[in-house]
Amino acid sequence: MLSTATTPMAVSVASTKRAKQFLHWSVSAWVLIALIGQWFFASYVFVMYVFPIATGNPDLVNLTQPIIGYVKGDTFGNAALFSHVIPAALLSVGGIIQLLPIVRRKFPAVHRWNGRMFLTLGLLGALSGLYLTWVRGARLSDLGSLGISINGVLIIVAVVFAWRYATAKQFDLHMRWAIHAFLLVNGVWFFRLYLMAWYVANQGPNGNTSTIDGPMDIFLSFACYGIPMLIAECVFWAKRQKQASKIWTITVLTSTCTLITLLGVVAAIFMMWIPPISAVLF
Ligand code: HEM
Repeated sequence: MLSTATTPMAVSVASTKRAKQFLHWSVSAWVLIALIGQWFFASYVFVMYVFPIATGNPDLVNLTQPIIGYVKGDTFGNAALFSHVIPAALLSVGGIIQLLPIVRRKFPAVHRWNGRMFLTLGLLGALSGLYLTWVRGARLSDLGSLGISINGVLIIVAVVFAWRYATAKQFDLHMRWAIHAFLLVNGVWFFRLYLMAWYVANQGPNGNTSTIDGPMDIFLSFACYGIPMLIAECVFWAKRQKQASKIWTITVLTSTCTLITLLGVVAAIFMMWIPPISAVLF
């Protein structure tokens, strides 16, 4: 007679459990790589924007070769720029902390306050970004600005829902919307990663233009939040599945994305962030 441990049912339960474990590991690996990439981005923003402003040298901000950047005498435009870029450092440090289960479990107050900070600054980032693009005119092309503008509108929607479900104590829905808010707020970060990974894979630009309206630029300007959101939905779906093969399929997908993120993070660190940081500090 077969023992319970070896019945087909027990084998299927064990293989589903193993598949979910691997899915969990691959998502955790992504979070770890994202944490490194996000904190590097935060360091870049700190050195290139927060430091010059804090030390009273706002014109140094223009070392980043911005689209418009700091303009002497344009008080309102500069205020919009600074209220856009300074919170980006806090968003990049704080956002990823929200994804760490240990913080949610052991320090719920940190999760709550950090969450409020993230959602408020994310909203401010979206509104100031839309203002900079369409009112101040900081855009390289209309077509190339569409993806990021829709990103901005979706941030507002996701923040409102994430907040609403948190206050209504509907935590499953809160988590789902908060993750989408996190991914949307980080659309600009994903864009840099995907662009750098694309440059590395092609040994330079391919379908890209200096005004960010080449076919690949336009694809990436939507993909930078569309793909992460789609994958998040795949992970939510996989977690509800009982059939191991379905969970493995998503695990392969998330592992591939984790590798692409790793490539993008390494490329962005060395090609985008270390050179300007070194130019300012050394
Ligand atoms: C909340 C999420 C966002 C964050 C964290 C963020 C972060 C940043 C950062 C760090 C920069 C400086 C770029 C660099 O030096 O490489 C920047 C610039 C800029 N962002 Fe955003 N951004 C966000 C959303 C948006 C949105 C939704 C838009 C447009 C609809 C936008 C429009 C701009 C523009 C136009 C600039 C350039 C300003 C200039 O060069 O004069 N951003 N953003």
